[in-house]
Amino acid sequence: MPASDTPLPPLRHVARGTAVIGLQWGDEGKGKIVDCLAARHHAVVRYNGGANAGHSVVHAGQRFALHLVPAGVLHRNVLAVVANGVVLDPAALLAELDALEARGIDTSGVVISNQAHVVAPWHHLEDDLREELLRSGETGNASDEHTHDPNGRAALLRDSEPTPIGTTRRGIGPCYADKVQRANAIRIGDLLRPGPLRHRVALACCVKNATLEALARLSRRPFTPFDPDLVAAELLRCGERLRPRIRNTTALLHDLLRQGRALLFEGANGTLLDVDHGTYPYVTASACAAGGIAPGTGLPPACVDCVLGVLKAYTTRVGHGPFPTELHDALGEHIRQRGREFGTTTGRPRRVGWLDLVAVRYAARLNGANALALTMLDVLDDIPTLRVCTAYRLGRRTLDDFPPDAAELAGVEPIYTELEGFRREVRGVRRRDDLPPAAIRYVEFIERFVGVPVAMVSVGPERDETVEPWCEPGPYWSVSQQRVRDVP
Ligand code: IMP
Repeated sequence: MPASDTPLPPLRHVARGTAVIGLQWGDEGKGKIVDCLAARHHAVVRYNGGANAGHSVVHAGQRFALHLVPAGVLHRNVLAVVANGVVLDPAALLAELDALEARGIDTSGVVISNQAHVVAPWHHLEDDLREELLRSGETGNASDEHTHDPNGRAALLRDSEPTPIGTTRRGIGPCYADKVQRANAIRIGDLLRPGPLRHRVALACCVKNATLEALARLSRRPFTPFDPDLVAAELLRCGERLRPRIRNTTALLHDLLRQGRALLFEGANGTLLDVDHGTYPYVTASACAAGGIAPGTGLPPACVDCVLGVLKAYTTRVGHGPFPTELHDALGEHIRQRGREFGTTTGRPRRVGWLDLVAVRYAARLNGANALALTMLDVLDDIPTLRVCTAYRLGRRTLDDFPPDAAELAGVEPIYTELEGFRREVRGVRRRDDLPPAAIRYVEFIERFVGVPVAMVSVGPERDETVEPWCEPGPYWSVSQQRVRDVP
């Protein structure tokens, strides 16, 4: 029977999705958590972001750095779906697939939405030029403007000292901007239609060569115009190689739900980088929180029945923007080294700080998290006294809630609660009761403060270096155990 003739199942049967979402500024260890849960699901689905994300997964002693390919790729019989909300550079995706194949990973389960948007060469350049412009503080003819602007807008421009966002320079923001702008955007499906593609690329080059030349001049950088024939030829070449993987993934995912299959949504980046609810403007360009799943896949919001929020036992951030609990001292360096806190995508050292529970509670609420996965607990096990931020001071006020506005957040001072260090290695531990009592108290403090139960605790990068289940099986785990039986 064709899928469209199938009677619609009742809602409770549709609700079969688990979302794995980062509750901090990315790099929470979502890749490992997805890897742990993938075998209980039929498909792992990426719905946002692009190659700015870097999920690192240790599998059978080998470390895999995944950027675009969902972490489900490391499991046989699990589809790895790159849905419509993702933006991708087709050549980068092919390189990632080739590298996985070269290491013996079967990538035949990777499918890509024909509605995902293409990160084109001009998007990389635009990302670079915009960051350069912000870095140099160049604001064009600001002094001329001052003469015509009695309200002093030019003075404001000069005084506000624009800071770069610190993007990954993967062209993510410019690609999403063009998606919304529409006229010169290219979608993955276009790569399979040579005539219309050449036309779109010619139009895009016309617009981009004009605007980027001006931007390059402003940033005092050289500029070589894009050749539409070369760009179109390269995109068509990639399209031919990707052809067997390109699908209407929305229809595919709806079919899977109708068949009662379980889906795992792999959030990229982190909630505090969400374009609307993160620390704007120091955010990424997509909807990272669970609310982004519906537009990013074409599935109804009700299909997500469990949101597993992932947080590290401390905090990290890459790029610019406020970070109240940041450590600038030797302890910060110690955590950076022990936690291997260097960007999977860019190799940049990550900024490191104490666990900010005010921020995590805000993110958990935004996502409606019903369970937490705590990662990197082992990294803290040699620190004598631990601190967690439980409120902020702003002038004479005490704030209990997270102010996502970057300017406001930049002015807060963290108020800490001190907790006893673990005094023992935790990496070999597999059962909750074998953890040092202080480590159990640390986890329980997080649960109580955030108001969401911890479901699993990761004590090392390998899949089995996990304490799971952490709590008595509750609604989350009964759903998840059910899935183990469902997956063929
Ligand atoms: P973009 O996503 O490249 O535009 O970068 C915007 C901001 O988000 C920068 O501060 C990046 O460092 C940060 N960012 C983007 N993706 C990730 C991620 O997966 N982990 C951590 N930071 C990220």
